[in-house]
Amino acid sequence: MKLAGLTNNLSKTGLLIITTLLTGAATLAFANGTETTSSPPPAPAPATDNTAPYTVVCDKSSGQTVCNVDKQTYIGWRTYHAVCHVCHAQDAVGSSFAPSLVERVGAIDKERFMDVLANGYSGQIGVMPGWKDNPNVNKKYDELYGYLKARADGALPPGRPKRLP
Ligand code: HEC
Repeated sequence: MKLAGLTNNLSKTGLLIITTLLTGAATLAFANGTETTSSPPPAPAPATDNTAPYTVVCDKSSGQTVCNVDKQTYIGWRTYHAVCHVCHAQDAVGSSFAPSLVERVGAIDKERFMDVLANGYSGQIGVMPGWKDNPNVNKKYDELYGYLKARADGALPPGRPKRLP
């Protein structure tokens, strides 16, 4: 049953790719044959966003979502759940005394994130400590950003991710 679903999905994807290729080829042949001055067709949009500071690959074929992440994002997940979850809660969803980072990290830029992590600040909700003197955190800002941005972008659902090989 599981396998059948997967095979079905795969063959659909395969079909889609073949169709796309054929359509592309036909368009190209047509353009070449009729209009010599026509400009080449625009390059296809990239399938993945290469600017995202994380790689997340989720597999839903078993009926349960299992997500795999790159090493940096994985270390971010680990560091977050060793240090930050105490206040911001598991999966960064927030608590009664620290905000949801799923929401906050989507609203601030990376520069602000780095500054807040290093120096902390005091706001309306409470005090966010600075971490620049904590060796478990101060070398992991990029990793934390990758993990939290993946959560904020909705790319990574709650739960423990696996590490991509
Ligand atoms: C002792 C509790 C505590 C811990 C531990 C903690 N935070 Fe916070 N953090 C807060 C509070 C409280 C705020 C909200 C301050 C405010 O706006 O009033 C906050 C805010 C933030 C913000 C929002 C910044 C903004 O400009 O909106 C980010 C990002 C953040 N924390 C990241 C982290 C990360 C990453 C860690 C782990 C390294 C961490 N925090 C650990 C309490 C904590």
